[in-house]
Amino acid sequence: MKNVLVIYYSQSGQLESIARNIAKPLLNSENINVLFHEIQMEEPFPFPWKSESFFEVFPETFLQLPRAIKPVPQEILNTKFDLILLNYQVWYLSPSIPINSFLNSPEAKNILNNTPVVTINGSRNMWFMAQEKVKVLLKQNNALLKGNIALVDRVGNLISVITIVDWMFSGVKKKYLGIFPLPGVSDKDINESTKFGDAILSSLKENDLDHLQSKLVQIDAVKISSYLLTVDRTGNKIFSKWSNFIINRKKTRKFWTKVFKVYLLVAIWLISPIVYILHLVFYPLKLKKIRRELEYYKGVK
Ligand SMILES: Cc1cc2nc3c(=O)[nH]c(=O)nc-3n(C[C@H](O)[C@H](O)[C@H](O)COP(=O)(O)O)c2cc1C
Repeated sequence: MKNVLVIYYSQSGQLESIARNIAKPLLNSENINVLFHEIQMEEPFPFPWKSESFFEVFPETFLQLPRAIKPVPQEILNTKFDLILLNYQVWYLSPSIPINSFLNSPEAKNILNNTPVVTINGSRNMWFMAQEKVKVLLKQNNALLKGNIALVDRVGNLISVITIVDWMFSGVKKKYLGIFPLPGVSDKDINESTKFGDAILSSLKENDLDHLQSKLVQIDAVKISSYLLTVDRTGNKIFSKWSNFIINRKKTRKFWTKVFKVYLLVAIWLISPIVYILHLVFYPLKLKKIRRELEYYKGVK
């Protein structure tokens, strides 16, 4: 009998449905016992978000400051798991506060210690640097990263900014103004994600999790755009400055959060197209380096 733990947090239910679809083949298999654990905040985050609270969480999210979470049930703490499926979403180019809080908890140390982990991402499209931060947290917990799956919104970057904002602020996954595409990960990708569960199941049965990631990559578990990677990296440098600045503004925090919101709009609509053009121009010169990087981010090293 093998024990598998599926950890997730989801506001809209998107990541939960990804988590449950990927876990399906394991649930349907004999000799595998699957437990689910939903991370719950002592003080839940709002959903749908109001503009103020959405931007208010930026500094603590980016600086990875944990908040109080509800205790993990004893049944989970008492079980030694053969595999953990860690489902998480990105907030502000970092692991979301609920996931970061869990990964910083003493319970996580106990559960993850010396245990194989597959990370599963359900974000808009910019998860590369957040995954690097999760790798650090997994290492701190002595976990063994064996696989990574990233499901993203496949429409263009700027279109998905518009549609996700409508979704986050209305709480409804709908075609904005009736003309934009649906926000988030497509139903098709979510439904088909059981194929990743099949790959995980066969590796688990064969006791060969070390070759899992190459199998996952072959079935398109991670697709990486070198342009989005550049935006993610640049964004991290800029967010580092903004988050440290805002967190130290005790009395004027509200004002500076509003300035950050305006800055973010300008960055997305003005700076990111410039980054795109520069990326296109210099792409042929950096081909070798880009190939090496894409290979790295597809892996779990
Ligand atoms: C505050 C906030 C910030 C976000 N920042 C990012 C981001 O930097 N990159 C990204 O790809 N998605 C980002 N997203 C989208 C989430 O990763 C995720 O796709 C969305 O919140 C739906 O997840 P759910 O399953 O919790 O409903 C953000 C969402 C929120 C609420």
